[in-house]
Amino acid sequence: MDFKEYITVVEDFPKEGIKFKDITTLMENGEAFRKAIDELGNFAKQKGADLIVGPEARGFIVGCPLSYALEIGFVPVRKAGKLPREVVGVDYGLEYGKDRLTMHKDSIQPGQKVLITDDLLATGGTIEATIEMVEQLGGTVVGIAFLIELTYLEGRDKLEGYDVFTLMQY
Ligand code: PRP
Repeated sequence: MDFKEYITVVEDFPKEGIKFKDITTLMENGEAFRKAIDELGNFAKQKGADLIVGPEARGFIVGCPLSYALEIGFVPVRKAGKLPREVVGVDYGLEYGKDRLTMHKDSIQPGQKVLITDDLLATGGTIEATIEMVEQLGGTVVGIAFLIELTYLEGRDKLEGYDVFTLMQY
């Protein structure tokens, strides 16, 4: 299946010069969405993942169906101030902005095999921060899976040493 057929490229969103990759048109097609998740699921199974971790908000869209399909847990990474219990946190740079990400301190058991997932790899800042927290909590990152990679932003360089799977590249 040519998954790119289901992605809409929106010029100058959210600001001039950005070609936004809109995954909502993929999600609207039940067959394409399911097949895309299955591809990420095959990678996660190969890597022996026993926990999925995904950052707000689009990481939930990818991570939750994966968790359901593989019958393994899902742990949300959220922006500061959203999680109700004790957290670990890391500041991170974004393609267009800056923020702080957090995870519940007791969300990972030491030695758990974690698959990190998100819709998009841009500069890699979001996932770099996520890896830092997962490892702080004693998890082992066995793989990182994305629907889309923006290769020209070279986010993969930040993830050197990790097994990265991307379904589509731009
Ligand atoms: C987008 C996207 C990734 C991240 C990728 O999320 O969903 O999480 O940016 O960029 P990076 O590789 O440069 O870190 P955003 O922060 O816009 O949040 P959202 O999912 O809540 O819209």
